[in-house]
Amino acid sequence: MSHEVVEKNIGLMALLVLLVISVGGLVEIVPLFFLKSTTEPVEGLKPYTALQLEGRDVYIREGCYLCHSQMIRPFRAETERYGHYSVAGEFVYDHPFQWGSKRTGPDLARVGGRYSDDWHRVHLNNPRDVVPESNMPAFPWLSENLIDASVTPKKLKAMRTLGVPYTDEDIAGASAAVEGKTELDALIAYLQNLGTAISSRR
Ligand code: HEC
Repeated sequence: MSHEVVEKNIGLMALLVLLVISVGGLVEIVPLFFLKSTTEPVEGLKPYTALQLEGRDVYIREGCYLCHSQMIRPFRAETERYGHYSVAGEFVYDHPFQWGSKRTGPDLARVGGRYSDDWHRVHLNNPRDVVPESNMPAFPWLSENLIDASVTPKKLKAMRTLGVPYTDEDIAGASAAVEGKTELDALIAYLQNLGTAISSRR
């Protein structure tokens, strides 16, 4: 009888549907804010260095995330290929995280240390030089553009506002750390750090 009332009143039905979804959503989402495994950094995780942070910005600007995910799912096929699956505690200093969902190229969550800096240098300048069948675009300008060292401290400060534990010394030394470096240097520093906090557990 009461069910009939709900079925005949679309406004009431919509309201109740909304209520059910909201409660269901809250029950799933809210605990994640309090679980240690999702809010605390994994052991050994360090904030990005000034150079790595600049590299992260190059990664975003060039749209690398449009072809590369940084999220290894807990499936055999993924862990065999990429290494230990990704865990939430690896990303607590990432604002925003670069998980992505499109894999035109391989996942990069644990690419740190997989290749030498020189390999990346050649590969980013022209992927075909090391992977003949590659359809990844070339990024030859990265080796010509210098990092603008004057804004780097501000970037660290912004990250600190978001909870990344940079010290005053980190911020004071940020400009000097990237002075004279190219965007390619920064991007490679970023890539070589990816996933290294727990890759030894592979
Ligand atoms: C249009 C898609 C596309 C874009 C954009 C792209 N890539 Fe790739 N990437 C690929 C493909 C496909 C491969 C596999 C072939 C190869 O190694 O070149 C690859 C491979 C790689 C690899 C080697 C990974 C491994 O495990 O072998 C790295 C590192 C990489 N890309 C970094 C980058 C970075 C950094 C950027 C942004 C500057 C970028 N890619 C942009 C498609 C892309």
